[in-house]
Amino acid sequence: MDTHVVDHPLAASLLTTMRDAATDNPTFRSALRELTQMLIYEAIRDAEIEVFEVQTPVARARGVRLATPPLLVPVLRAGLGMVEQASSLIPQSQVGFVGMARDEQTHQPVPYLESLPDDLSGIPVYVLDPMLATGGSMVSTIELLVDRGAVDITAVCVVAAPEGVTALKDSGFPVRLVTASIDEGLNDDAYIVPGLGDAGDRQFGPR
Ligand code: URA
Repeated sequence: MDTHVVDHPLAASLLTTMRDAATDNPTFRSALRELTQMLIYEAIRDAEIEVFEVQTPVARARGVRLATPPLLVPVLRAGLGMVEQASSLIPQSQVGFVGMARDEQTHQPVPYLESLPDDLSGIPVYVLDPMLATGGSMVSTIELLVDRGAVDITAVCVVAAPEGVTALKDSGFPVRLVTASIDEGLNDDAYIVPGLGDAGDRQFGPR
């Protein structure tokens, strides 16, 4: 699996703001938006383009646009804080939504919301979730996308745990990962260490 860690001082500085337990909810949300912009910018770097001509005030010039506008899929709830920035960067994109709950008996992720186009063949899909922890929710989300024909999937995560990266690799699904950091690992409560805490709570307050 192709994994790209965005190594940039501005991304590292925004991630530092998000990690800091003293950062309040509005500042956390704003840092997440700005970091999402950088992650999407990198994630889309090798996207197919279409070339066409534009007329500048002076001459004809080579113009470029994305060949196939992607589908953005925030995973609720934490992924919601990434979608506005991602869609303003790619205004032609469509947005689908996936919500994952955890079955308290089996501890397995169970989808409670699937708002996705039926046919995703030929459409690049960007899954937005700030935290790739065990990888359970991400792998289940990707399964929903593959069931609809997706073959070009990018997981866009702020922080990833090595366990989550391994789970994505082992899934065998056609996915690549773009992240700002691969952290040390998971603690006994499946939080990423050092991580940044609960990305939903840090944006929206505790449930
Ligand atoms: N989800 C979070 O929000 N934080 C973690 O550290 C792990 C999963």
